Amino acid sequence: MWIFKVGVLGAGAMGGGIAQVVTYAGLPVVVKDIDEAQLQAAREHVEKIYQGRVDKGKMTMGQVQEKLDLIEYTLDYDEFADVDIVIEAVPEVMKVKQQVFKELDEVCTPDTILASNTSALSITEMAQATDRPHKVIGMHFFNPAHVMKLVEVIPGAETDQDTIDTVEQFTQELRKIPVIVQECPGFLVNRLLMPYLNEAVLALEQGSATAQEIDEALGTGGFGWPMGPFFLMDMLGIDVCAHVGNYLYDHYGERLAQVRLFDELVERNRLGEKSGAGFYVYTATKAEPLEDIVAKLQASGEVETGTPFSVDRLIMPFLNEAAMCVQEEIANVNDIDMACIAGIGMQVNKNGELIRMGPLEYMDEMGLDVVVEKMETLEKEFGSRFHPVDVLYQKVKSGALGKKAGRGFMEWTA
Ligand code: 3HC
Repeated sequence: MWIFKVGVLGAGAMGGGIAQVVTYAGLPVVVKDIDEAQLQAAREHVEKIYQGRVDKGKMTMGQVQEKLDLIEYTLDYDEFADVDIVIEAVPEVMKVKQQVFKELDEVCTPDTILASNTSALSITEMAQATDRPHKVIGMHFFNPAHVMKLVEVIPGAETDQDTIDTVEQFTQELRKIPVIVQECPGFLVNRLLMPYLNEAVLALEQGSATAQEIDEALGTGGFGWPMGPFFLMDMLGIDVCAHVGNYLYDHYGERLAQVRLFDELVERNRLGEKSGAGFYVYTATKAEPLEDIVAKLQASGEVETGTPFSVDRLIMPFLNEAAMCVQEEIANVNDIDMACIAGIGMQVNKNGELIRMGPLEYMDEMGLDVVVEKMETLEKEFGSRFHPVDVLYQKVKSGALGKKAGRGFMEWTA
C-alpha cells in the first residue's frame, strides 16, 4: 500500500516534528489537536525547523513555503476521511490513547493504518479500542524528530504483514531508518536508555556527583554521547522521563532503582527546557537551585548518600539491557546497534576520536568476560539491578568472548 496523505494527531513537540518530517519528504499532512494554542505552537515549531534549513543555506524561502503549504492545522476530524495513515502523538495515558483510536476508527476509511508514536505503552492494548487491530502499529520517532534517523516499528499482537511492510516502506520514504522491534514495555531504545538515565538521577540525588560532572563524564569529551544524561532529559522533558521510568519500573521491577528526584522536579513544574528549568535552569532564572533540592532530599533521610560515581555505573545497565534484548529476541543484533546509533546518537570516545558504535559491538570490543566482571563488581557494590543477564554468562562459558575470540554477539574475522 502507498501513503499519499498523512494525519498527525496531537500537536505537541513530537507531533509538530513528525509533521515537519512528512512535509520534508513531500507529502501532505493534516495536524489535529483539541487546543488552538497547541496548533499555533506546532506551526511555530515547524516554521522554526525550516528556518534553520534556510539559515544554513540548505533551502530557499520559496522552497520552505512549498513545504509549509502541505500542512493543514485543524481542530476537527473532517480532513481525516482520506488519509492513508494517522500517526498519533497524544499524551501518554492509555485511556486517552484508546479514546482517540476509537474516534479514528470511526472517521478514517477501513484501509487507513493507525500508528502510535508512544514511547513505551502497549500497541496491542491500543488496538483493542478499534475494529481494525490488524491495521494498528507502533511508529516511534526520536526527539528531535527532524534530526534523529530512527523510527522503531512495533507490530502489535494482531498487526498484519501488509501493515508492517507499508510502514517500513513509508518510514524509508520519510528518509528515516525503520527497525522492527518486538512489542515489550519501552520497546527497544527506551528500554536500554532508561536504566542509564535513571542511574544518573540516582547518582545525583545520592550526592555521588553533580549534574555537570556527570554530563561531562558521559558527553563528547568523556564517554562520547552527543549529550550528557541531564542535558538529554531536559530536552526530552522530565515528565516524559519520569513517566517512562515509572512504567518500566512497574514492568521490570528492580532492574531500575526507584528515584525521588524526578517527582521532586515534576512537582515544582521543572519539566526541562520547555518549562524554563529542569536539571538546569534556562529562562526560569528564579528557580530554586538544584543543589538545594538535592540537599533537602538528602536531609529528609529518605535517600542513601555518598555512593560513588563512575561512568561504568551508568553505562553497564544500558549494556546489560541490550544483552537482555538479544536474549529475548526483541530485535536482531545488527538492528539493536543500528537503533542506538540512529535513535540516540551512540558514539564512543576513543582517544579523542568519536566512533559511532552500538552497545553489542562495544561489548564485543570490551570482551564479554570483562563485561561480566564489571557487572559483578557493581552488583556487589550496588545490588541486584547490576546482575549480569544469562546470555552474557552463556557466551562467556562457550568461549564467545567478543572480538578477541572471533565471536561474541557478532562474528569477527581477523
Ligand atoms: N530537516 C531535515 N534534516 C535535518 C533538519 C531538518 N530541518 N535539521 C537537521 N537535519 C539533519 C541534517 O542532516 C543535519 O545536518 P546538516 O545540517 O549538515 O544537513 C543533521 O540533522 C544534524 O543537525 P544539527 O546540526 O541540528 O544537529 P547537531 O549536530 O547540533 O546535534 C542533536 C544535535 C542531533 C540533538 C545531538 O546532540 C544528538 O544526537 N543528541 C542526542 C539526542 C537523543 O538522544 N535523542 C533521542 C532521545 S530518546 C527519545 O526521543 C525517545 C522518547 O520516546 C523519549
